[in-house]
Amino acid sequence: MEKKTLGAKGAACDPASYIDDRPGDGVFRLRRAVYGDPAVFEAELDRIFGRCWNYICHESQITAPGDYFATRIGRHPIFVIRGDDGAPRGFYDSCAHRGTRLTRRRKGNARTLTCRYHGWCFNAEGRCTLVRGGDEGYTREAMAALDTDLRPIAGLDVYKGFVFGCLDDAAGSLGDFLGDVRPFIDLIADQSPQGMEVLRGDSTYMMKANWKLQTENSTDGYHVASVHRNFATTLGYREQISGADGMAKTEASRILDLHNIGSGGYDLAGGHMINWSDRGNPRAAPLWDSRDELLKHHSEGKVRWLVERGQTVTVFPNLLLNDVASTCIRQWRPLAPDLTEIDTWCLAPIGEGAEQRRARIRKYEDFFFPSSLAVPDDVSAMEGAHDGSLAGGGWSEFALSRHTMIDGPDDAARELGVNVRTSNPGRESETPFYSFYREWLRRMERP
Ligand code: FES
Ligand SMILES: [Fe+2]
Repeated sequence: MEKKTLGAKGAACDPASYIDDRPGDGVFRLRRAVYGDPAVFEAELDRIFGRCWNYICHESQITAPGDYFATRIGRHPIFVIRGDDGAPRGFYDSCAHRGTRLTRRRKGNARTLTCRYHGWCFNAEGRCTLVRGGDEGYTREAMAALDTDLRPIAGLDVYKGFVFGCLDDAAGSLGDFLGDVRPFIDLIADQSPQGMEVLRGDSTYMMKANWKLQTENSTDGYHVASVHRNFATTLGYREQISGADGMAKTEASRILDLHNIGSGGYDLAGGHMINWSDRGNPRAAPLWDSRDELLKHHSEGKVRWLVERGQTVTVFPNLLLNDVASTCIRQWRPLAPDLTEIDTWCLAPIGEGAEQRRARIRKYEDFFFPSSLAVPDDVSAMEGAHDGSLAGGGWSEFALSRHTMIDGPDDAARELGVNVRTSNPGRESETPFYSFYREWLRRMERP
């Protein structure tokens, strides 16, 4: 029987019609209208963003009582604020009086949030502490009947410093949602026994393309050698004339020398996916000097992953944790079918040495910064993909290296002791995407 989902504005959309997934025939393709169709977009806001766990911020961005971080889950403005008891809490960012947003900035500190409109005040536990003029303006009975506190979001939880929230009481636990991506998040979170910290500075930029293209691009190892050759050759020349050496060099084997290093991609189920590659020159990694210290805390196999490999970890539906030349958190939010807002931060081990920190920041600027040598090229490619998806329909192919995919873990995954749904021994393979789009379909079809 034909299944249909209604977009929030009532237009019909049939999610299964966008995916041609025939494992027996080696076919996996996507109807290109999936990017630009407004009915799909409305249904995604409800069925994907409204129901699953969404990354909000890193704990290091809200360390003191009153520290808050404001963002959106789907269309809903929300914020997280740390209470006097040290616990972070999540609320809809909407005044209990007539709905004005309470946060003035992206992040800040406020022991009391005062609404700019009529002056109601709220504490970090979400309690209303002042209804201005309320003693005269309401009878005692009317005041008692008012619902003056902030509305908490349905769920807030933290995994290894990464704060997630959800709007659906039936979302299940964060641990179950993250599933088998957790040991790969650990490769980002466990780089220092003291933990990780987001460095100062926020960068936000816009892309005239659908949000799913950014999710795809995060795991797409296939574009790296074509789109980022400019990055690798420019840096190579810069390093040649500057004489940069050791950690100051950028390790670019994944771009220039992919066929001589180990690499691969995993379908982690649940919509999560990664690709990885060995570092041709691991001494260029800022973490190289921490190797002995890391071996005191982790297995040899995990330290090999931490120091000698780079990975891009994509958490469903809109979070990328990246550890290649440098370390980066990237998150993107859908604003319209063809408009996506993207945030990026540099994440670093707490207590790392000055040389490592300098190298990490310089390499972050080179590759991840909005005006870097890489991000504009990615954005241009994704905007081109979105625009081209409007050209008379058609299907996008996701079957590169389908024939080398195996069920379960490969040797590298076994070295880390992790479970994966499928492995592929090439970073350019397109099979990890099956995780994302199968989970997309499962959620879009759920009543
Ligand atoms: S809308 Fe906030 S006090 Fe009126
Ligand atoms: Fe890229």
